[in-house]
Amino acid sequence: MLRAGLGLSLLAGVLPAAVAQPADLLRGRHLFESRCGGCHSLDQNRVGPALGTVVGRPAGKQADFAYSPALSRATHVWTPEKLVAWLADPEALVPGQAMGYRLDDAGDRRDVVAFLRSLATGQPAH
Ligand code: HEC
Repeated sequence: MLRAGLGLSLLAGVLPAAVAQPADLLRGRHLFESRCGGCHSLDQNRVGPALGTVVGRPAGKQADFAYSPALSRATHVWTPEKLVAWLADPEALVPGQAMGYRLDDAGDRRDVVAFLRSLATGQPAH
């Protein structure tokens, strides 16, 4: 019993969510529209920067967007992994940033990021 429980929790810790369950791009698009669309568009800066080309872009560098000093100083590139971390807890990834929003559900993060990734690659991300 103890051993089975330990095995399961080890498995859950090792398997990335994306492997445990395939991403759903259509769900990701709907989530983007409903959860991010109030502040972000794909092709225009609004309250937040345009996100249609965010995958592969250096953080805090979208042209003509007034970032917080913290995010404009960031040095990472937005990989799918960084985006998942950002959506889970933006403040943990970039302390002092200005996006007051997060996605608490790992499945939601996986699907939104898969949708953004599909825009960058032109390929369905599953
Ligand atoms: C309440 C408004 C708001 C919501 C909702 C919101 N964001 Fe943001 N987002 C921002 C702001 C403002 C920034 C700029 C933060 C800064 O300058 O520190 C930002 C920045 C970002 C960045 C960094 C982009 C770059 O160019 O470095 C990403 C990625 C991002 N948001 C993704 C999302 C996603 C995906 C969602 C939906 C799950 C979302 N955001 C929901 C306001 C929001």
